[in-house]
Amino acid sequence: MKSRTVHIVGAGGLVGASSAAALLAKPGSWNIHLVDIAAELVSGQALDLNDATAFLADTHVRVGEYKDIRADDIVVITSGIPRRADQSRLDLIGTNAGIMTKVVQSIMAQGQPVFIFVVSNPVDLMTRVAIEVSGLPSERVFGTGTTLDTARLLVAIAGELKVPPSTIDALVLGEHGDSSVAAFEAATVSGQPLTKLPQYSLEWAERITNDIRAHARKIIETKKSTHWGIGAVVANIVEALTLEQGQTFPVGVMASGQYGLSDVVLGLPATVSANGAKILPNYPLTAAEIGALQDSANVLQQTWADYKSAQHSTEKR
Ligand SMILES: NC(=O)c1ccc[n+]([C@@H]2O[C@H](COP(=O)([O-])OP(=O)(O)OC[C@H]3O[C@@H](n4cnc5c(N)ncnc54)[C@H](O)[C@@H]3O)[C@@H](O)[C@H]2O)c1
Repeated sequence: MKSRTVHIVGAGGLVGASSAAALLAKPGSWNIHLVDIAAELVSGQALDLNDATAFLADTHVRVGEYKDIRADDIVVITSGIPRRADQSRLDLIGTNAGIMTKVVQSIMAQGQPVFIFVVSNPVDLMTRVAIEVSGLPSERVFGTGTTLDTARLLVAIAGELKVPPSTIDALVLGEHGDSSVAAFEAATVSGQPLTKLPQYSLEWAERITNDIRAHARKIIETKKSTHWGIGAVVANIVEALTLEQGQTFPVGVMASGQYGLSDVVLGLPATVSANGAKILPNYPLTAAEIGALQDSANVLQQTWADYKSAQHSTEKR
């Protein structure tokens, strides 16, 4: 089997290293290159993670450099500061947009048509920065969007109904943050509509929605960062990027008219395959869910506009 090279920028940190660890559990042959400005830290992560490859057929982990990037490689970006429990993800925009810009410029300086997969927060806006700076086609640049929120929803519903998460089909869409939208009307459990189950009620759905929105803050309060769940999300989407047959994830993509949304990056139903990420235009959302999705898009548009005008006034000074 052809080995795939995945570069993880920011891999000295918890999210990047956990993503590499989760990728080691995926079948196939991987070359995992860890890139970080913290040279000592990333060399330690590479040595430690490479020990785990002893039990695999043909997978290697080492410290990488931008000049190793080749056409169609997958570049995962986790560099940037994480939020504190008293912060929103949107509070990180100034610092992390500067880091994202430099990282994407370094990637693009290699002149290769790569796939850029953004994880750093606020992930929807950082994906937008990566799209702007890279100039790559939109199917090649996308973010984790609401895939982690969706993972949390599946685990929460599974816990309530006492069924395996794999029997549930449901998506959270919109901002990876407080305005996210859980699309309950299309959700199914073993093929049956979730809304027809006796346990379902609007209050029940609202409680679960609030729980998953508060979930990350709870983890950050106890152990300062969330990294195992997002690591699993990254590994599953990276694996999908190596396969011909598409898989559906609510990744962060640039909308161009779908669901009444344009010129905004947010979590939308998309097919991820070896061709990149492509928005699914016909996911069955109700009018109320589309309205909530548009409200979520407005939150992101406003934050983006504020960031752009702050950037403009700094440049003028
Ligand atoms: N998308 C999601 O769902 C999701 C979930 C969890 C965390 N995150 C985000 O992931 C990011 C990383 O979190 P973390 O806990 O790993 O943080 P961390 O502080 O542990 O790691 C960040 C790493 O980025 C590196 N870095 C900084 N500037 C760099 C540059 N210019 N080039 C290369 N590397 C650089 C740092 O040296 C550090 O090792 C945060 O923004 C966090 O909010 C996203």
